[in-house]
Amino acid sequence: MIPQHAAAGRRVRVIAFAVAGVLVAGLGTTAALAATGAFSAGRVETITTPRPTPSVTEPEVTPTPTPTGPYREGLALTPPMGWNSWNYLRCNDLSEAAVRSAADAIVSRGLASAGYDYIVVDDCWQAGRDANGVLIADPARFPSGMKALGDYLHSKGLKFGIYAVPGTVTCANYWDKYPVRGIGSLGYEALDAQTFADWGVDFLKYDFCRAEINDGLVEQAAFTLMEQELVKTGRDIVLSISEYGESQPWTWAPGIANMWRTSHDLHPNWKSLADHINAEAGLSQYARPGAWNDPDMLQLANGLGPNENITQMAMWCMLAAPLFIGTDPATLDQAHVDLLTNPELLAIDQDPLGRQGDRLRDADGIQVWGRQLSDGSYAVAFWNTSYSNLSSSVTLAELGLSGTFTVRDAVNRVDLGTTADVVGSPVVGAHGTALLRLDPVG
Ligand code: GLA
Repeated sequence: MIPQHAAAGRRVRVIAFAVAGVLVAGLGTTAALAATGAFSAGRVETITTPRPTPSVTEPEVTPTPTPTGPYREGLALTPPMGWNSWNYLRCNDLSEAAVRSAADAIVSRGLASAGYDYIVVDDCWQAGRDANGVLIADPARFPSGMKALGDYLHSKGLKFGIYAVPGTVTCANYWDKYPVRGIGSLGYEALDAQTFADWGVDFLKYDFCRAEINDGLVEQAAFTLMEQELVKTGRDIVLSISEYGESQPWTWAPGIANMWRTSHDLHPNWKSLADHINAEAGLSQYARPGAWNDPDMLQLANGLGPNENITQMAMWCMLAAPLFIGTDPATLDQAHVDLLTNPELLAIDQDPLGRQGDRLRDADGIQVWGRQLSDGSYAVAFWNTSYSNLSSSVTLAELGLSGTFTVRDAVNRVDLGTTADVVGSPVVGAHGTALLRLDPVG
């Protein structure tokens, strides 16, 4: 099956020629800088014996390496949170200035202190490889280089994430006509892992991008290989993988990756949002601290309706999902900032038990999802999948609970009394979600 990533582009269709122009210029500059040793990404200055350039046409056949399991699961004990450039900047608008500006706003608007601390530079930062095979960032877009960007993010208390692919072709090469070639990690896994570690990278998004078709790679082996190379660097780097749920990564990725995509790209529309939530039903058994199902990044504030924004946030928290903001944090209106930083929702997402929610009922336009929390409390969501306002209820027995519980509306942050039998939802707007927290009394 061919992934349908391309449909997402809010801006992609107008950019192909502009990208080509920037990069042709950028590559010339890069080559010149590399030759003088002045390129700020800097590894060319430190390597005295050039590494042999690996062949990308004849990759070595290696057995599937053994993942590090407990080490990997010791990272990302709660679902990672942050900002990722892709949903906002896509390919053509990505630049160091835009990333720094987003990072500044993530801090100044209180998003970093709420937990959104990974700043991930997605696809289209790459300009090629130097004479030693070391990846170089496009000096036109990233004039200070990646090490300096990492230092800047760290100086603000943030963490640095970057994007790479296991094969020869990135998704933007394929879907966005990004013209630079030779930037995949196939045959360069150890070198790229070390380069990322040298740059201070804390998070790698490793994206399969048709590597099974283009390069004959097998998902589990390819991701495990990079997992091992990251470990060898000695730097703790969270590994986020995406192969869009095609090889059922939840069955093999725990212990190899810290999070794995469960579906194709999420687009900012109702059908896509609903499909992504529905795809999570039945997957809770595979998630645990250090190993998370990833229904993709937030599209909140990118064109979803107001109730749908609430649904994405509330349901992602019910799913113990990684939370990556995908919009401009500088211009985000305050209501969206308040939703993203709602401490009662985030406490559910980040609950240390790490138990993902389960779908308990799907009937009459409302889905009921439940999630056990670490302190004996319980979260229950009423997701209104209909086009009308609805309310619903569930019994404690249906939730597997007994006793008396206080009921708190975590979205609106109001108390709804106590119950010993029926938990009623408030009226839930069309496509909206009510998320209630039940705390045992006594
Ligand atoms: C794929 C991924 C996206 C993004 C793009 C970049 O489509 O699923 O999240 O990383 O590639 O090209």
